This record gives sequence, structure tokens and C-alpha cells, in this order.
Amino acid sequence: MENSKVNEIVTRALEDIEKADKGDVINEIRNRYLAKKSELMGLMSLLGQMSPEERKDFGKLVNDAKTRISEMLNKKQQEIAQKELNKRLEEEKIDISLPGKKVELGGRNPFYLVQDEVIEIFTGMGFSVASGPEVESDLFNFELLNIPKDHPARDMQDTFYIDNNTLLRTHTSPVQAHTMQEAKGQPVKIICPGKTYRRDNDDATHSHQFAQVEGLLIDKNINIGHLKALLTLFAKKMFGEKREIRLRPSYFPFTEPSVEVDISCFNCGGKGCSMCKGTGWIEILGGGMVHPNVLKMNGYDPEVYSGLAFGIGIERVAMLRYGIDDIRKIYTNDVRFLRQFEKKA
Ligand code: DAH
Repeated sequence: MENSKVNEIVTRALEDIEKADKGDVINEIRNRYLAKKSELMGLMSLLGQMSPEERKDFGKLVNDAKTRISEMLNKKQQEIAQKELNKRLEEEKIDISLPGKKVELGGRNPFYLVQDEVIEIFTGMGFSVASGPEVESDLFNFELLNIPKDHPARDMQDTFYIDNNTLLRTHTSPVQAHTMQEAKGQPVKIICPGKTYRRDNDDATHSHQFAQVEGLLIDKNINIGHLKALLTLFAKKMFGEKREIRLRPSYFPFTEPSVEVDISCFNCGGKGCSMCKGTGWIEILGGGMVHPNVLKMNGYDPEVYSGLAFGIGIERVAMLRYGIDDIRKIYTNDVRFLRQFEKKA
């Protein structure tokens, strides 16, 4: 009687398990059939009324039933978990054949492409890179470069004044004076790239802020041949192996003699075109031999030491090199403009 009851419970449980399709249902079935107060466990209370022989058999029957139901529940639970996992994997499948989101890159500004290249060319010739303040004193920006207070050359370099003696530097040349004073009479071989300022009305070729690379070489027996050799190499590396340079007499207060340096036109090769205004030459920088007064004021004996100096306008070189027609494009960070240069670099 009790035995058939056990079998009947097992059959019912197995049927319920078979039908279950969710983890929750399995838990509920487990509770219904195997908890302490379940029908099956309730049958255990009958053990007390049985003979030891019967008790042993019946106990075993109930235990086996419990184990069977439990095993079937576990098996079914695993099946359901696997099914749910498969379903989720199917639903959450990532289509790796889709293209990823593109990271939009700009391009390096031609200004920096040129500045880096100038630095590389001169450091390759043994120059080291110096720097100096952009907020400068009148003394270093003008006086120590042989431009006294009433000197007419100051007119060409009007700038932004902080007070009567402090200004935004108009050129990188004050770094010459700083470097010489720090070197205390020893040889010097530096370039200095940096920002410069002038009170100019901005247009296609003028900007109130621009940049230069200053060059200074001081040693015994330096002559203008060295200047020509250095700048010829620079012109060839920057504008092509076929370039020649020519030095034209000019004037800067801090050099004597002073020169403007032209390169043979890279557009027409020197025959004359609109780029070189029919002359075959394009002006690229200024330079000269360091003025004896500048050497003296900054701690060198001009009878023993001589020096060469030059100043290159970065934007001007960038505009020539890349055919940029308006200096303002260099500063406005339009990606359509910037992207054009990455490949040419
Ligand atoms: N400082 C000059 C300028 O801004 C450029 C220059 C010319 C620098 C001749 C030099 C130099 O060192 O020797 O116009």
C-alpha cells in the first residue's frame, strides 16, 4: 500500500519534471516533492509503526525515490540552464563582420612638420636646441642686440608691451644674448625655435604671432663661408637637392655684414615664374656675421671670437614648401586643411 504510494509519487514527480521548462518551475517542484513537509517525506512518519524488517525496506524505497527525483531534477535543471544560455548566445550574437566605428584623425599641422624638419636638419649638423622667454626685457630684445632705444630699426619691430621695459619678444634673436651670457665666453652652437610677436594687422602674409628658428654659431675663425655652407645644406634638405642659395647684402643691427638669403626657385628651377616673380630666386631668411658690439656686450672678445647667426621664419618656409596661400590657415585648425599634409610629410 505504502509502496505503491511511493511509486505513484515518483511517477507524478517525473511527469512534472518532464514538463518543466523554467528554472523557477524546477525549484517549485523540488520544494513540492522533496521538502520536509512534502508527501514523500511525510511517509517517513510511518516508519515508527513498522517492523524492523519492513522499516529497512521501506526506508530504502523512500530514499531511492528521493534520490531518483533529485537526480532527475538536477538533470532537467542543467538542460534548462543550457537552453537558456544557448538562447542568450543566439540573441546577443555580435556581428563581427560589421565595420568598427572609425576614429577620425586630423593631420599634423604643416607648421610643426616644418619646424621639426628644421630642428632635425640643424641638430644633424651638431647644433643643440636652446630656448628663451617669450615675455622679454627691452634689454635682451633690443639693447644687447645693438638696437639702442632711439634706433630706427625698432620701428619695424613694434610689439605688445607689458610695461616700459617688458614686451613680447619680436624675434628669437634675444636667445642669442641669453645663450652667449650663459656660455661665458665658450663656443656656442645652438638653434632656437620659438614664438614671436609683432603689432601687425593680420592678413594673408602677416600675423601678430608667428615663429622663427634662430641659429647662432660662435667660435674662433668662423667666417661667412661657414654661413653659406650651412644654409646651402639647409636649403637642399628643405627644398630639394638641386637648390642653390645666394646671399644678398642687407642690414640687421646685430650682424655685420648682414645678408638676405635667397634660394633658387623650386617651382621653375630658376628660369623665372610667378612664384619667384620672374627673378628665379625666392627670399627665405636673414643672417650674417655676429656684430662685434653684440659679441662684446655678451662677453666675447671680437678679436678672438667670431660668429654667424641666422633667423628663419617657420610659417614662411611652410607656406613656400606646401604652397599655402594664407598664413591664417596655419592657425585656424580646419581639419580639411590639416589632412592634406600628412601624406606629404
Ligand atoms: N631677427 C631678425 C628678424 O626677426 C631675423 C634675423 C636676421 C636673425 C639676421 C638673425 C640674423 O640671427 O643674423 O627679422
